[in-house]
Amino acid sequence: MSIDPDKMKEKKFSVCEPNIGPREKELVDECFDTGWISSQGPFVKKFEKKFADFCQAKYGCSATNGTTALHLALATIGVEKGDEVIIPDFTMIASCNAVLYTGAKPVLVDAEKETWNMDLTQIEKKITDKTKAIMVMHTYGHPCDMQIVKEIADKHDLLVVEDAAEAHGTEYKGKRDEAIGEIGSFSLYANKMLTTGEGGMVVTNNEEYNDKAHILMNHGFSKEKHFWHKVVGFNYRMTNMQAAIGMAQLERVDEFVEAKRRNSAAYTKILSQVPGITTPPEKEWAKNVFWMYGIMLEDEFGVKKDEARQALAEKGIETRSFFIPMHAQPAYLDKGLFAGEKYPIADEFCRKGFYLPSSTKLTQTDIEEIANTLGGLKK
Ligand SMILES: Cc1ncc(COP(=O)(O)O)c(C=O)c1O
Repeated sequence: MSIDPDKMKEKKFSVCEPNIGPREKELVDECFDTGWISSQGPFVKKFEKKFADFCQAKYGCSATNGTTALHLALATIGVEKGDEVIIPDFTMIASCNAVLYTGAKPVLVDAEKETWNMDLTQIEKKITDKTKAIMVMHTYGHPCDMQIVKEIADKHDLLVVEDAAEAHGTEYKGKRDEAIGEIGSFSLYANKMLTTGEGGMVVTNNEEYNDKAHILMNHGFSKEKHFWHKVVGFNYRMTNMQAAIGMAQLERVDEFVEAKRRNSAAYTKILSQVPGITTPPEKEWAKNVFWMYGIMLEDEFGVKKDEARQALAEKGIETRSFFIPMHAQPAYLDKGLFAGEKYPIADEFCRKGFYLPSSTKLTQTDIEEIANTLGGLKK
């Protein structure tokens, strides 16, 4: 009987699993022992600072997850009802939802094949007098060309927000904070480069934004007196226990980034020899962290994506399909959003792409087994 590739019984290789160990446990135990289990407690502030340092940025503001962090970033820069925000069509739904939570309208741009990111040449066509910001997303860890994004933003007096949920450690022209724009947000979900279980972080070099994000994240409590609120805020507070896990993860994050890059090189060495497999990009100005190792199956491969995923699943190899683009989501079409809009490259990515097991714990032998199994499916 055939297996649904998303529902395997005997899994040998997961698509991604967290890399947590005794140090994470030790720091969480400290929260238990001291009673600091909610958002008060020493780890949250330390984690914000240490995470910002990792990003080579000045400030970090923690949040409950990557989606709330992105909403917080948008609210911090003042995106609101009546505004438009330009976003990639090829992204995870949280990018688009976060814009909708502010009351603003998401405006889509198709993907491009060089970096698998938003096609920057199409942004200007989408700018109107309502456009407030451009949101970029660094697909699977490859940065957008931020200089081009900034030039467009400066020319049209727009803000740049960055959905860096998949891009911890990503570098643009040798720098991490250059990949962040004015304000960026990260996810710290269990499958991310580093995790706090659930969690998120807003990162910026702008002190004013950082102050505002901290106020908005904590019910809009004003600094002057308690229970005095000058803005409508949210409760997006990270717990001390989450931050404890994050502190331990940051001790090993460079090792994780290197493991992802090593895995990617090992996969690409084998798969680039197989006609009909497109391997992930890395432009000369970029450091891709290959958060997930994505591939696309071209016609030449002779086997379609679903069939290949099925065959891999039967061998215990879990894979995950690329994003279904925003313009095709029933949740939006039902609201009359994006009706009749066409984004052929995002559609093509969705039709051809999936990612292979990408855990930092995979060995060279594991990668060879997975890559050779995939390569062996070619007709
Ligand atoms: C591009 C992108 N944005 C936002 C998110 C949302 O992050 P979270 O699941 O932590 O809310 C994700 C999650 O995978 C993502 O990939």
